[in-house]
Amino acid sequence: NIIVIDFGSQYNQLLARRIRDLGVFSELLPHTMTAEELAAKKPKGIIFSGGPNSVYGENSPKCDPKLFELDVPILGVCYGMQLMSAHFGAEVSRANHREYGQATVQVNTSSPLFKGQPEEQSVWMSHGDLVQAPPEGFSVDAKSASCPVAAMSDESRQLYGIQYHPEVRNSEYGDEQLKHFVFDVCGARATWTMEHFIDEKVEEIRNSVGDRKVLCALSGGVDSSVAAALVHKAIGDQLYCVFVDHGLLRKGEAEEVVKTFRDEFNMNFIKVDAKERFLNKLEGVSDPEKKRKIIGNEFIYVFEEEANKLKDISYLVQGTLYTDIIESGTATAQTIKSHHNVGGLPERMMFDLIEPLNTLFKDEVRRLGSELGLSDAIVWRQPFPGPGLGIRVLGSITEEKLEIVRESDAILRDEIKKAGLDRDIWQYFTVLPDIKSVGVMGDARTYDYCVAIRAVTSIDGMTSDWARIPWDVLGKISTRIVNEVDHINRVVYDVTSKPPATIEWE
Ligand code: XMP
Repeated sequence: NIIVIDFGSQYNQLLARRIRDLGVFSELLPHTMTAEELAAKKPKGIIFSGGPNSVYGENSPKCDPKLFELDVPILGVCYGMQLMSAHFGAEVSRANHREYGQATVQVNTSSPLFKGQPEEQSVWMSHGDLVQAPPEGFSVDAKSASCPVAAMSDESRQLYGIQYHPEVRNSEYGDEQLKHFVFDVCGARATWTMEHFIDEKVEEIRNSVGDRKVLCALSGGVDSSVAAALVHKAIGDQLYCVFVDHGLLRKGEAEEVVKTFRDEFNMNFIKVDAKERFLNKLEGVSDPEKKRKIIGNEFIYVFEEEANKLKDISYLVQGTLYTDIIESGTATAQTIKSHHNVGGLPERMMFDLIEPLNTLFKDEVRRLGSELGLSDAIVWRQPFPGPGLGIRVLGSITEEKLEIVRESDAILRDEIKKAGLDRDIWQYFTVLPDIKSVGVMGDARTYDYCVAIRAVTSIDGMTSDWARIPWDVLGKISTRIVNEVDHINRVVYDVTSKPPATIEWE
């Protein structure tokens, strides 16, 4: 296995995931673990992730210096390379220009990581500090116009550093470099598969649950459905799935979920109608983080009530993904937004959590779902956030505004499906900004709401681009929304990627 040490980069789990894609087990562990603890895991190699800090900063994360004496190959990425350089006595300095985005590097193709690759490559840089000259014993393996050490190595000590991010798709040969590190330098073998993952998780869940009862928070979305199927495989009828209709679902969604789970799964299934209590709690609340926290808390209260009815429930299963955790902020990464099932949880609750998917990305969860035998209709559902339409009605929520989003969203989904684009576009939905604008309908002035269409392409939701929906399809959607949905006199299309925007507007 290959251990990735977490220094706080938004991309850190992506590193682990790229290694798993190569068929080698990889996990992300905190930088506070000692060399002894890490050695006990018998890693074939260690990767230091990037991070937002400066190595000389007072609170910047460090690792146990004994790690360098374990005789295990180490690859430092970005901050990780700077940390390695500082450890071996090289100077890390502030770059004249913060380098962010695509860059071209010249590489030394006789170095183990760059074998068989072109001498000039496009890479993804994201750093404010840089290493001017490598530490003693290291040679420079890559450089760019503004970065004198873009990669370095000391083959005799099996130490490697890369200043850019090989784990990001924009680094053309990043995968090749990771492959060389994992197989040639570390000598790992590709034996890890989704089947292994299932076997491991099933055993882990069985061991921790024993003969106790478990509740699953089922939204009908991909993540919670796959989590339910996995836990069901482990403990069968000890699992009770609870589906909460919080009144923030899409048109026809509650009925569909009930139908799917009664037909497709043979599981204990409970539907709770909680529309009123969610909407009451949300009344007059307009701050996005407050709304997210209220929804997250209320979910747990509903589950606690159901658990009390069922008696002796000790665990709650959630389909939390790695991306939910990283965006909600970790010890080392910044909070982008509180995902309802992570930062939105109450401080005290009566359950321990089982989150079997919390190291995975969306596309891995889809693969897992197929491997578990779930139908395409579930596995390929577009992602839908737990707080639902609550974060698509911007500002304070009313039943009238929810209805506008529900109806316009149904039209959008219908037209995207008719145009055959539903598999190509990763996520598509409508948003109701809290503004009115002037229009003219049948010679009369109108002063009404506008609807925004959001449609993105993505692999894992961490980054995304706006979808190039053909103009005529957009035109049809716009006409239908204005004609068929009350109180709408304008439709706009969101043409921002993530970053700098996020996919949802709140
Ligand atoms: P953002 O808006 O952060 O969204 O770019 C990335 C992906 O996550 C979904 N999302 C959520 N999913 N609970 C969820 O289960 C949440 O609180 C939540 N917030 C955003 C979003 O729909 C997109 O697919």
